[in-house]
Amino acid sequence: MRKIVSLANNTVEPSYESMAFSKVPDTVFESVVAKTEEEVIAATHDAEVILFTATKLNRNVISHLEKCRLMVRYGIGYDTVDLEAAREKGIYVCNSPRYGVIDVAEHALSLIFAAAKNLVAMNDNIRNDIWHSNGYQNVRLMGKTVGFLGFGNIGRAVCERTNACGMKGVVYDPYVNDDIILKYGAKKATFDEVLESADVITCHLPLNDSTYHILGKEQFEKMKPSAILVNTSRGGVINEAELIDALEKGEISGVGLDVFEDECGGMDKRLLKVKNAVLTPHVAWNTPDAMDTLHTEVADNVVKYLNGERPDSIVNGM
Ligand SMILES: NC(=O)c1ccc[n+]([C@@H]2O[C@H](COP(=O)([O-])OP(=O)(O)OC[C@H]3O[C@@H](n4cnc5c(N)ncnc54)[C@H](O)[C@@H]3O)[C@@H](O)[C@H]2O)c1
Repeated sequence: MRKIVSLANNTVEPSYESMAFSKVPDTVFESVVAKTEEEVIAATHDAEVILFTATKLNRNVISHLEKCRLMVRYGIGYDTVDLEAAREKGIYVCNSPRYGVIDVAEHALSLIFAAAKNLVAMNDNIRNDIWHSNGYQNVRLMGKTVGFLGFGNIGRAVCERTNACGMKGVVYDPYVNDDIILKYGAKKATFDEVLESADVITCHLPLNDSTYHILGKEQFEKMKPSAILVNTSRGGVINEAELIDALEKGEISGVGLDVFEDECGGMDKRLLKVKNAVLTPHVAWNTPDAMDTLHTEVADNVVKYLNGERPDSIVNGM
């Protein structure tokens, strides 16, 4: 029997997966709640395929895998897996690059608007019976420059939307060639050029060694005092303590954050007191449309592999 184990949490109901895998002979599909490393090892040691969302698949867990050939993440980011350890063991690691691109792009745009138009503060004003702007002024986005850090699928989808708002795009992404950036009507720029010229900066980077804390004190000092920073990628790309300092000192004017350095309850609570910080709990992807696509994207890729084909969206150079 070829075992497929899902370590996904309760938000991922695997009924499509059950139906899809039942059509492949000699397979068994188990959905397991495994919280500790020991539980993860117990659940996966004899699995050929592992499906996961936030589970850490580190070198130790991978060293215990006896039969695994494929790991598929329910999602785009794959920073919780030791890619090299998996590669050394001949395990494909795949992500699901398409399911939530539109949803995250729309959410990033919402955060840009929410911060530019002071939506949270004005909403609070009304609820406190304050019928004026209380010193706040909104930002007109048309004609302003939006800087993209990372210009992959989501960055490009945001750019289509900011173009429609009449904003000018500048892009820092050394791995994307100029033609693509031009096709989106944007301009290639250095990291510092984006920091210094953008009125809005939106992050669409993977979290890895090259992007960890790519934005910190030094970078905030280079940004315009009127700049708005939006992050829907991974919390670790921003030094959060230094971001709060910059906001408190007025080095930048606002933030929209969907992702945080610690999403398990250890967030720096100073952020909650910062004026014009619009915060959402890592929900940019969360629409029924994205969820439906996520199930089919993951399951169809696993079926492809089980039928002897090379899986799609391999991210560990296998
Ligand atoms: N908040 C959410 O709900 C949510 C949902 C899905 C994805 N995400 C996150 O969004 C991010 C972007 O997703 P995507 O689909 O656009 O990914 P993608 O792989 O299509 O694009 C990432 C881009 O970043 C660029 N890049 C990599 N390292 C860089 C560096 N050091 N400097 C500049 N650019 C660099 C790459 O060249 C690539 O173009 C990921 O971190 C993903 O985890 C968040």
